[in-house]
Amino acid sequence: MSTLLLTPLLSEQEMSICLRLQTAAAKTGVAAYLVGGFVRDRLLRRECKDIDIVCVGSGIELARAFAKLYTPVPQVVMYEKYGTAALKVEGFEVEFVGARKESYSRDSRKPIVENGSLDDDQKRRDFTINALAMSLSAENFGEVLDPFGGLEHLEKGIIRTPLDPAITFSDDPLRMMRAIRFATQLGFEIAEETFEAIREQRERIKIISQERITTELQKIMQAARPSVGYKLLQRCGLLRLIFPELQAMYGIDEQNGLRHKDNFFHSLQVLDQLCERSDNLWLRWAALLHDIGKPATKRFEAESGWTFHGHEAVGARMIPRIFARLKLPIDHRLQYVQKLVEMHARPVALSKEHITDAALRRLLVEVGEELEDLLLLCEMDSTTQYEAKRLRYAQNLADLKE
Ligand code: CTP
Repeated sequence: MSTLLLTPLLSEQEMSICLRLQTAAAKTGVAAYLVGGFVRDRLLRRECKDIDIVCVGSGIELARAFAKLYTPVPQVVMYEKYGTAALKVEGFEVEFVGARKESYSRDSRKPIVENGSLDDDQKRRDFTINALAMSLSAENFGEVLDPFGGLEHLEKGIIRTPLDPAITFSDDPLRMMRAIRFATQLGFEIAEETFEAIREQRERIKIISQERITTELQKIMQAARPSVGYKLLQRCGLLRLIFPELQAMYGIDEQNGLRHKDNFFHSLQVLDQLCERSDNLWLRWAALLHDIGKPATKRFEAESGWTFHGHEAVGARMIPRIFARLKLPIDHRLQYVQKLVEMHARPVALSKEHITDAALRRLLVEVGEELEDLLLLCEMDSTTQYEAKRLRYAQNLADLKE
């Protein structure tokens, strides 16, 4: 098999770090490798400021030897219990760990750890694209070590576990969320058997802390198209477990031959449309949640068909509970999302009527400095396929803005 060198993809600064790592490894007499996200992101030409080093031996000793090559010597933070060490150099966070054979007991995250080889360490990582390593030894410096086909999967855009997915997910069920998050961030497909295993093991997400789950949700929210992640979460059944309010929006009811739109897919489309225009994370949350009160207010009325009267207020009242459960910040950010959910239909309602100064002033006073964001959310809250309807909607909003 031909060898691939990562070195041509490294910046000057990264190269200087790697050369010092090589020197430190030679001094301490351990074999050391760059591993995980950094190798993956270099190959994908994505920014990455975290460098993970795995060595066959003591990660702490290697970290100390590495730190000594800098003046002034940077502070090394050590976690003796886990045998890991971390330090900051040249704007990079470098973390060291000794290669391990590791397996988690079934009911907790407490690992049973033994020293291992590089191969053992790569095996126990989450996905083949995250199990790639780069050698830091003089004899094959820069060579990419790829025992599980990670390079091919990077090329083809596939998320696959290195081992039987049942084992990989059982070792750390958060990886089910990570698979979906990487698929969303990178635009990759999850391999069929890997996805099937997520479906089978989804209940195990219950042993994972909410903070770790929410970190993944936030990364999905920051991606270019978060809908990819939410659709996958829905399909594998994780959504029902971690976000039942969102799951409740899924599906269409029919009565007297009348169907309402699927509010789950509508919300996701609004969210994706907004993401094209704004990086504001909390405005993105508002887009995802703007119709969250719809399932609770859904009625079928003989004369008017499907209605969702008062869904804005009901939705706004749901936000604090959702934020608390997801451990999202309970502060001005919650209030901001709540306000936008509560007011999301107001500009459109107003723009359909003859706009009086008084009504306009009332809206402006209530919305305050969130006006721009509210108008953008409104503009994005149009997912009709009918061109004429969309244009009319856009024109009404433009008139209102004017
Ligand atoms: N890893 C793992 N299982 C986890 C978390 C991490 O196997 N539950 C491994 C992967 O090899 C991963 C590496 O540890 O590449 C570093 O993890 P982390 O920094 O959390 O993720 P990255 O892959 O670097 O990606 P990102 O920075 O986007 O979170």
